[in-house]
Amino acid sequence: MLLRKVSRRSRRARRRQAENFTALEQIASGIKVIKAMGSAAAERARYERTNSALYAAKMKIALARAESDALIGGLSFALIGVVVLGSAAAIAHARMDSSSVLTFITALIRLTTLMKTGTKAYGEIQENLPAAARLFAVLNQESRITDRAGAPPCPRPQQAIQLHNVRFGYGVGAEVLRGVNLTLPVGKIVALVGESGSGKSTLIDLILRFRDVTGGCISVDGVDIRSVQQASLVQHCALVSQDLFLFNDTIENNIRYGRPDATAAEVEEAARRAHIHDTILKLPGGQGYQTVVGDRGDRLSGGQRQRIAIARALLRNAPVLLLDEPTSALDAESEHHVQAALRELMRGRTCLVIAHRLSTVQHADCICVLSRETGNVVETGTHQELLSRGGEYARLVQMQQLG
Ligand SMILES: Nc1ncnc2c1ncn2[C@@H]1O[C@H](COP(=O)(O)OP(=O)(O)OP(=O)(O)O)[C@@H](O)[C@H]1O
Ligand SMILES: [Mg+2]
Repeated sequence: MLLRKVSRRSRRARRRQAENFTALEQIASGIKVIKAMGSAAAERARYERTNSALYAAKMKIALARAESDALIGGLSFALIGVVVLGSAAAIAHARMDSSSVLTFITALIRLTTLMKTGTKAYGEIQENLPAAARLFAVLNQESRITDRAGAPPCPRPQQAIQLHNVRFGYGVGAEVLRGVNLTLPVGKIVALVGESGSGKSTLIDLILRFRDVTGGCISVDGVDIRSVQQASLVQHCALVSQDLFLFNDTIENNIRYGRPDATAAEVEEAARRAHIHDTILKLPGGQGYQTVVGDRGDRLSGGQRQRIAIARALLRNAPVLLLDEPTSALDAESEHHVQAALRELMRGRTCLVIAHRLSTVQHADCICVLSRETGNVVETGTHQELLSRGGEYARLVQMQQLG
């Protein structure tokens, strides 16, 4: 019975171990999503919960194992002891009674076994800690991005988000951005296009202040974003990132990630608006919103993942949308649904859209072309204006980097 207890507890501990690693892995790969949702603290709490659950599970096995070891060990010792002590007592009239000796031996065995398994469990937990510590250091980026003492919250943008002569380099190789000027007026859609590697995704990181500019500045209504609380800046923004990160969790929880206090009805409403509700109900397995999406969402198609990311952003309902369009091509049917979902998401928001699709740039109020060669915005205008100019934009369209 004790052995059954050990194996049952071992199984539970293995499950906890898996949860623990999954939590770490998910945080590692979803860092941008987590940071963009401003939920680093919640994630740390989640990890600490799985970690202490793991510790408790391991300690329980240690105890059960110690109990069974002590019992078996104790019984064999008892037999030997009875024989030895019995004869010894008979011969030498020992002062100490045999049962105290036995109790002592059993307690000793129990204690050493418990210590051995206990320290092993503790050691395993300790092994994970450095990795976890590094991860949370990245998550908090306390070394790099800190709020100034007494920094006020960032006001909700009323006029514009602007980049003034922004320069940025990763510290290796040449600077990526070399003097970018860009204005994102409130309520407008600005599309950003440019060759792969020109720094489009980097630019979004800078607007969210995941990294600081190395020259120039970024402002919200004229206020430098380095002078306000970073978390409050992120609060005004919803990010749909290029790699469409989904957690290995249910669809419902993945959408709710946009706003953790949302009700099931609100999650469903967001899914409807993202044109994914019917698809969710028809997923194989019949579990609907409770379907687990797999690692990084690999049980869903590209178009389904995009729409779930869109539902998440819809639920978040932030005034500013930073959309980094995935480059992956979709079939016509999927494309149609994604386009409809995107139109719904962009409506009434201030949008900066990194566009890889012609259909997206055609909806934009203004298109900015980022050049990899010069590291800045080389053309600004509408689709028609830029096409007739016959410059960089026209070249991109011709090269089919768009559309
Ligand atoms: N974390 C990083 N460390 C160092 N260099 C980086 C890092 N991230 C991006 N880069 C480099 O910065 C440049 C711009 O990258 P970025 O991802 O912003 O390009 P992009 O315009 O979004 O490209 P794509 O259209 O392929 O998504 C590239 O040369 C890239 O190799
Ligand atoms: Mg990119």
